[in-house]
Amino acid sequence: MPDHAGSASRPPAKHGVPDIAPELAIAAYGIHKTYSATKRSPARMALRGIDLEIPRGSIFGLLGPNGAGKSTFINIMSGMVRKSAGQMSLWGIDIDLHPRAARAAIGVVPQELNMDPFFTPRETLELQAGFYGVPRAERRTEELLGLMGLADKAEAYVRQLSGGMKRRLMIGKAMVHEPPILVLDEPSAGVDVELRRQLWAMIRRLNSEGVTIVLTTHYLEEAQELCDHIAIIDNGAVTANESTVQLLKRLDHKTLIIEPTSRLSAAPADLLDLAPVLTDEGTLIFTWRQGAVRVEDLLDRIRAAGIAIKDLKTQEPDLEDVFVALTGPKS
Ligand SMILES: Nc1ncnc2c1ncn2[C@@H]1O[C@H](COP(=O)(O)OP(=O)(O)O)[C@@H](O)[C@H]1O
Ligand SMILES: [Mg+2]
Repeated sequence: MPDHAGSASRPPAKHGVPDIAPELAIAAYGIHKTYSATKRSPARMALRGIDLEIPRGSIFGLLGPNGAGKSTFINIMSGMVRKSAGQMSLWGIDIDLHPRAARAAIGVVPQELNMDPFFTPRETLELQAGFYGVPRAERRTEELLGLMGLADKAEAYVRQLSGGMKRRLMIGKAMVHEPPILVLDEPSAGVDVELRRQLWAMIRRLNSEGVTIVLTTHYLEEAQELCDHIAIIDNGAVTANESTVQLLKRLDHKTLIIEPTSRLSAAPADLLDLAPVLTDEGTLIFTWRQGAVRVEDLLDRIRAAGIAIKDLKTQEPDLEDVFVALTGPKS
């Protein structure tokens, strides 16, 4: 009988994942990725040396615009893409030395929904559990169906499910082997507001049960609602990596945009202490630090300065503002 080397001293394993609790759920150092040139496109450097340490227990957001390299990083974790250089460990397990054990530590929900439309949700979860070698007695198919709100759809064909149900099934599928880390690539892309709320609640619940969550998003709002840590990736490099609270401190401003009824030739002298900007389109923009000014008072002063307001809107900082705050205005 083959002897499992060192099995006596090794901690008990759950579906191939050692029963350990590393400080870092994910550690990545100097990750580079260059996609090779093809007939149609030249070689493309997608990651330029990513260093990231993701603490166990966190909800960690990888935030960045389209094309930043987020999916490339996720796909290196899941084994879909080979890194060109660097070192990565998942749950303390090096992906080059022990690829199978490392990958057993994560469940990945890819950006694209890829499911066989001819299986039912129950069959989909059973097949996936079989794929991971989860013994029948330890499968959690029914529990996952319930958790994902799909108990009454267990026997429906996947092609008959709504987009939201499919996405929840994908999450269930990623969880069949009870990985300590769940990775979601753009969970909210193309998802309506109601479903997004449901997804967020589900993510929070899994996290409160001890699952470390890593998600990518290009919505600042999503990262700031859900994540306790945010790393910003831009053009294949990490440009910020800190707690959400710290990151938002850099952005504690608000903006009010006023469209006056009649065009102004200059910002009114009475309002100069508020540093308004008169744009070429004729709108007047006020920006202030959160709490420094009350919108009500601001509007009173604008009217008192003789400006009739045709339209107005307020603006919260968005991803673009984060980049400006981090790197200074782009020239
Ligand atoms: N399979 C691939 N082959 C070649 N280039 C790719 C491939 N996948 C992604 N890229 C390129 O790598 C860069 C990063 O893409 P991606 O990781 O998908 O970014 P994100 O997920 O942040 O939108 C982009 O310039 C993209 O065009
Ligand atoms: Mg992507």
